[in-house]
Amino acid sequence: MHRAERRQVTALICDLVGSVSLTVRLDPEDMTSVIDAFLTTCENVIGRHGGAITQYAGDGVLAYFGYPRAGEDDAATAIRAAIALRDAVGRLDAPQGQPLRLRIGIATGLVVVSDLMPRADGRPVDIVGETPNLAARLQSIAAPDSIVVARTTKRIARGMFDFRDLGTFALKGFAAPVEAFEVLEEAAVASRFHARIRGESSPLVGRDQELARLFDCWAAARFGSGQVVLLHGEPGIGKSRLVEELRRRVADVSQLQMIWHCSPTRCDSVLYPISEQLALIAGFDRTDGAATRRDKLDRFMNAHGVTDTTARAVLADVLGVAPEPDNPLQTMTVEKRSEVTRETLLRLIDMMVPTGPALLVLEDAHWSDTTTLELLDRAIQRAAQRRWLIVVTARLEYEPPWAASPKVTRLPLGRLSHGDAERICTHVAASAALPAATLRQIVNRGEGIPLFLEELAKYVVEASAAPARDGHASVAIPASLQDSLVARLDRLGPARRIANLGAAIGRRFSYDLLSAIVAEPEARLGESLDQLVKSGLVESSGAPPDSLYTFKHALIRDAAYESLLRRERQTLHGRIAAVLRDRFPETRDTEPELLAYHFTESGAIAEAIPLWADAGRRAASRAAHVEAARHLQTALDLLRHQSADGERADLELELLIGLAVSLAASRGYTVPEVGKALSEARAICDALGNTAGLFAVLRGICSFLIIAGDLDGAEEMAHLCLGIGEQTGLPEHRIESGVALGYILFARGDLPAARRLLAAAVQLYQASDGARLPQLSSQDPLVAGQASLLQVLHAMGDDAGAAAVASDLIAHARRLGRPFDLAWALSWLAFYQLARGDYEDVLLATEEALRICRDHGYPLYQLVAGSLQAHARGHLGRTPDEALAAASEALPAFQTLGMMHFSCFYLGEVAGLQLIVGKTAEAMQTIDAAIDAARRYGDGYFLSPLHRRRAEILAALPDTAPGQVTAALREAVTVAEAQGASAFLRRAAARLAAIDDDAPRRQSA
Ligand SMILES: Nc1ncnc2c1ncn2[C@@H]1O[C@H](COP(=O)(O)OP(=O)(O)O)[C@@H](O)[C@H]1O
Ligand SMILES: [Mg+2]
Repeated sequence: MHRAERRQVTALICDLVGSVSLTVRLDPEDMTSVIDAFLTTCENVIGRHGGAITQYAGDGVLAYFGYPRAGEDDAATAIRAAIALRDAVGRLDAPQGQPLRLRIGIATGLVVVSDLMPRADGRPVDIVGETPNLAARLQSIAAPDSIVVARTTKRIARGMFDFRDLGTFALKGFAAPVEAFEVLEEAAVASRFHARIRGESSPLVGRDQELARLFDCWAAARFGSGQVVLLHGEPGIGKSRLVEELRRRVADVSQLQMIWHCSPTRCDSVLYPISEQLALIAGFDRTDGAATRRDKLDRFMNAHGVTDTTARAVLADVLGVAPEPDNPLQTMTVEKRSEVTRETLLRLIDMMVPTGPALLVLEDAHWSDTTTLELLDRAIQRAAQRRWLIVVTARLEYEPPWAASPKVTRLPLGRLSHGDAERICTHVAASAALPAATLRQIVNRGEGIPLFLEELAKYVVEASAAPARDGHASVAIPASLQDSLVARLDRLGPARRIANLGAAIGRRFSYDLLSAIVAEPEARLGESLDQLVKSGLVESSGAPPDSLYTFKHALIRDAAYESLLRRERQTLHGRIAAVLRDRFPETRDTEPELLAYHFTESGAIAEAIPLWADAGRRAASRAAHVEAARHLQTALDLLRHQSADGERADLELELLIGLAVSLAASRGYTVPEVGKALSEARAICDALGNTAGLFAVLRGICSFLIIAGDLDGAEEMAHLCLGIGEQTGLPEHRIESGVALGYILFARGDLPAARRLLAAAVQLYQASDGARLPQLSSQDPLVAGQASLLQVLHAMGDDAGAAAVASDLIAHARRLGRPFDLAWALSWLAFYQLARGDYEDVLLATEEALRICRDHGYPLYQLVAGSLQAHARGHLGRTPDEALAAASEALPAFQTLGMMHFSCFYLGEVAGLQLIVGKTAEAMQTIDAAIDAARRYGDGYFLSPLHRRRAEILAALPDTAPGQVTAALREAVTVAEAQGASAFLRRAAARLAAIDDDAPRRQSA
């Protein structure tokens, strides 16, 4: 079957230098044999390194690494193959004494691979993308016998080779100049891990407990009771890092450290890790000829007293050095020979460290060849009688047979905490301070795996240094992780397809849904899923058909998803959406955003838009305004790409209004986005002559202006709303406009008029079952209406009426069951209680309000409730200093949220607290500022109490001139009188009377 996928590959192109002139000089028959020898060499070398040749072009080949199967280190393997190829071709017979020379170009990147063939039949694989072109262009600029690689390739293989920067080149077919690097030679280190930590050893984060246990084991081993530790954990979790840390810290006391690295490409090479390690110790060099190696081996054996011929033969054998003639190995059976080999190698350790202690590590045992595992087995048996600490690292899916033994210490490595994860990122980013949001994104995406965290952070830092082409820098998978992630998926074989399909559903997918979109017999599907789980890439819960699967890491899911072609993804999302719609119809109501997502990704935008709108409405109705705003914004963005017509304008208007409401609730009424959404909405209304829509828009603008401190502008909007309400006669319009205007009158201090309007609105709400009416602003109008009526009645001295409204208000808000309304109601209740001096009650109400605000993210009301709580605490005399600090801190925060309305009240409270703690002079300044703010923003309601407080402060000041206190109180009386605020009037008058009484006494004294 024809199947195509997107994947990262490394393309290698090599070309024979000067072949044209060769053709001219050579006899055609000789030329043919030269080319034949060259191509055979290419096939051998590239094949040995796991590359696939897909194209022969006369005297050159194009090969891919990472296809058909990704390896963990494809870019490095390709470079290694290139080096080997250059050396091998250089050794070919030189025609007419002129050695053959190559140019090689290598590039790494995403391509689309069409698997047109059952691979054996030799038809070419179709690979499309700029990567092979780039490799070809790089090859063309390479000097003879040099290897030139692209930036991505170099980036991935960094630390493993030395490169020379060749600068940038304008290459045909590439718009921007392209960077090129020449490969100098393989860095002289044995493994990727060494390469990694060589230059950039970052400080170890966390892992205190694990290190402590390793030290305990080391201590026990040192004093004679050898130990075995299994370090178990997912790739990149930090197994090697921990081993390295241990090695460094015990370096002064350990007499021998042996690290045997298994390699994913050498699982079948007998004793590969051992021979590599021995070669390193014996000082073998890449360029050493047979004789030099022989010499070096002899020196090594002499140094360690290896004299008997059998042992010498074994070591020569393991190291691939030509054996001495007539050695005893030649006559042994295979079994005997491997037995002798194992014994010799273990004995070698004894010879190298007769007394110990020694640290022996087998790294990545899941890639070990069987002979090495047998050797390990034997070493483990022997450990108890030696001063050895044997540490074996392995991935979770590999369970060594000896791991169950009670003598083995299992040390599973878990994911890092958020704090530790952040530390790794900040360290990688070093000087490039990551913005908090970016850091959070990396930490979330890295999910506690150090390797992912490092690579993501590096990627983001580099991407922000060199602007990303697609602008998605922070969300993509770094190229450096791509190969290893895909390699893990490729190892799945046929089950990989299931991983891709599951990934299209999401990080989490159910058996139900998967089986509905997969055309595969149940048994096969079950098998594939089992394999997925066994591979350690996916976790499952429950048994089919009720089972649920989760990709263990988001990056794995993304890698699986991204290997799907865009076209295929679209089809899959379409199928998923259809299945969800038809077979799981409840999704439409319970999770419209899920359905909307799949429709969007399938390109069915027309279906998706109403679903996003629904998701937004649903979230808003639960007062989940953050999500609501996101969904509505998505709907809006998609809608604006549709062709414009009347229907579109209606929906756009509704979305804009909803967006403004949710943004106002979640971010504050005066953030610019709210103003923008409202003015766009108003423009649409004007164009359409849409009065119903216009109402909501004007109401929104009205709230916006109230909070911004423009009560005049707000009143204008409220009157317009009132006019619309009279026109339409709709109860929701009449209630809402009554509440809006009533609120403004209350704030101004026009109390009787406010009471009339608010009471009427409340009554109409109750008469028309208002909770069922369409909601036109972010809060329920009864909650808003009663909350302000409460303050009005209090000021007017109707205590019984106020108490009744207060209890109605809270009962109603609880019945509504919408957290935003309840937070609103509780905050206004607290406001009223504070004015009454019921401070203990304020603490209760604000506590509950704060909890709701924190849980649901309502920053404005969180600030309001928090301030009220601080005020109450101050009045109660509990840590008044702290209360003052908290109340003062809130002032700039209100400004940041754009809330000028009520600033006089908060300033007045701060002045009161300053008076309490004895900062009388400051209190005076603050109270003047408060009265100023009340006048500027029209918050007349507070004027009388503010003047009263000013009188209190004046009375406490030492240098107050006679008559000033009285004048302030007179002002309080006058204002209250004009407003019909009889309670405020009474309080100011009582003070005034007390002073008037005092005055003569003071005079007579
Ligand atoms: N605790 C840690 N603190 C800091 N960096 C770490 C830590 N653990 C791992 N790393 C880094 O994360 C990367 C992956 O770790 P590594 O030890 O190679 O993982 P594993 O061997 O488990 O695949 C390395 O670059 C390593 O330096
Ligand atoms: Mg490792």
